[in-house]
Amino acid sequence: MSLVPVITIDGPSASGKGTVAQRVAAALGFHYLDSGALYRLTALAAERRDLRWRDEVDVARLAGELDVEFDGAAILLDGENVTEAIRGESVGIGASIVAALPAVRTALLARQHAFARAPGLVADGRDMGSVVFPDARLKVFLTASAQARAERRCKQLRERGEPADLAAIAADLESRDARDRARAVAPLQQWPDALLLDTTGMGIDEAVDQVCRWWESLLNA
Ligand code: DC
Repeated sequence: MSLVPVITIDGPSASGKGTVAQRVAAALGFHYLDSGALYRLTALAAERRDLRWRDEVDVARLAGELDVEFDGAAILLDGENVTEAIRGESVGIGASIVAALPAVRTALLARQHAFARAPGLVADGRDMGSVVFPDARLKVFLTASAQARAERRCKQLRERGEPADLAAIAADLESRDARDRARAVAPLQQWPDALLLDTTGMGIDEAVDQVCRWWESLLNA
């Protein structure tokens, strides 16, 4: 088991897990891994090289060679700041396609393990507690109702000045979740050793407090 304490927060798209994970990491002084960003970066890099997202061999090779830098909140690909570019809806769809390819997941494993450094790590994604950090001390499965998640994504897009249609977003989230759940490797699911945190009707502060309380009670156990 790794000596570095790891907290994993897995869950579906737009559940708020990224924000909660970042805030928990800040509260504990831990490092933070946004694993979804790696799949998004792979999709964006593939698109820029005119590769097809379903082309497993080429996309996996690319994933293994990505020139990526996480510089605070900024994410650089080949030296260019792509923090905003990877959040677009089409890159999100590409990410869920490349994430279903086993060779791509394998190619990104070592990169994810490298984030586990002292004093600790909070990692969010779909398979953090099941595949990437199976020995994590605390595993959380964070979710919210489909309606609440669609409303949150809609609000996020509108705040960024992007057009947002609630029905279209709900349909898109549903098909992305279905693909994440149905894939053969590392499917999205709540594992028996993960604690469930349903944030429907719950604010961010409350969710962050709950995870920190779970962490403290583990330390005091
Ligand atoms: O969390 P996100 O929306 O940024 O993730 C983008 C896509 O990557 C999403 O379709 C699920 C996939 N993903 C994954 O398969 N495994 C992870 N650990 C993180 C994300």
